[in-house]
Amino acid sequence: MDRDTTQKVIQYWDKASLCSRESSTSHADPDLVYLDNLVELFVLRQCLDAWRLPRGRVLDVGAGFGRFTPLFLQFATQVVLLEAADSIYQNMADIWKSHEDIKCHHGEFDAYVDDDLFSLVFASGILYFYDDNTLNAFLTKATAMLSVGGLLIVRDFVSVPREYEKKSSYVEGATCYYRTPDYWKRLAAEHGLEFLKITRSKPQWNWLRNGRTLRILELLRLKHCLRGQIPASIMKKLGSFRLGASGVQTVFIGMRKMS
Ligand SMILES: C[S@@+](CC[C@H](N)C(=O)[O-])C[C@H]1O[C@@H](n2cnc3c(N)ncnc32)[C@H](O)[C@@H]1O
Repeated sequence: MDRDTTQKVIQYWDKASLCSRESSTSHADPDLVYLDNLVELFVLRQCLDAWRLPRGRVLDVGAGFGRFTPLFLQFATQVVLLEAADSIYQNMADIWKSHEDIKCHHGEFDAYVDDDLFSLVFASGILYFYDDNTLNAFLTKATAMLSVGGLLIVRDFVSVPREYEKKSSYVEGATCYYRTPDYWKRLAAEHGLEFLKITRSKPQWNWLRNGRTLRILELLRLKHCLRGQIPASIMKKLGSFRLGASGVQTVFIGMRKMS
């Protein structure tokens, strides 16, 4: 991805911002996003437990408003929230400024320098814009920033059964790359990372994501129920979904630095 496109992506986020504190996106229903975020936090927590995240520092690249921060704090000695878009950074820094274990950093990953290693480097919602070379450079740098045994977790889109590319509908000149699980497995191996697992981060629930269902819920004054508590037993079921046999899906991809 050339410098110009990187800047366009960051300018997009700067202008559009995120639609709520729990959101990773600029256009979505805030109630539905709230529910998605609850499920994603639950699924990510299960991953961190299963993959035995070592206690240490966490770097969240392209952190947005830092929606994963409360979870990271349970495992980390320090959480670094790195965000390139000015308006999002200001908002994020405002939210987290009073926590002494959280460092908010304004800037791009490419330019970020840190003397100490991390036990987790996390990137959610940024790598699908990266072409193969840019993605390789990201993995090289992220791997170098990890301590041995540390985790690289990517929340991104995968496409099953084939790779799928399309022009971004909101960032002019940018392409969205939806890669296959096998592509990620190969990439991990090329960077000397142990591939742990790909797990869907949230259910697809196409019926619920359909605007008509949301409008009906709104008319019935039931949409706020999406912000309700979910019993742990139901959450467990929601959090154990496998990759679907076809289509573009949002996933967590776990990799571990071995040496
Ligand atoms: C889709 S949003 C996701 C926000 C957050 N990670 C989440 O999942 O809720 C992507 C964010 O990454 C930021 N970003 C994109 N490229 C970046 C880069 N190279 N360095 C730092 N931040 C970046 C954008 O400004 C935007 O806030």
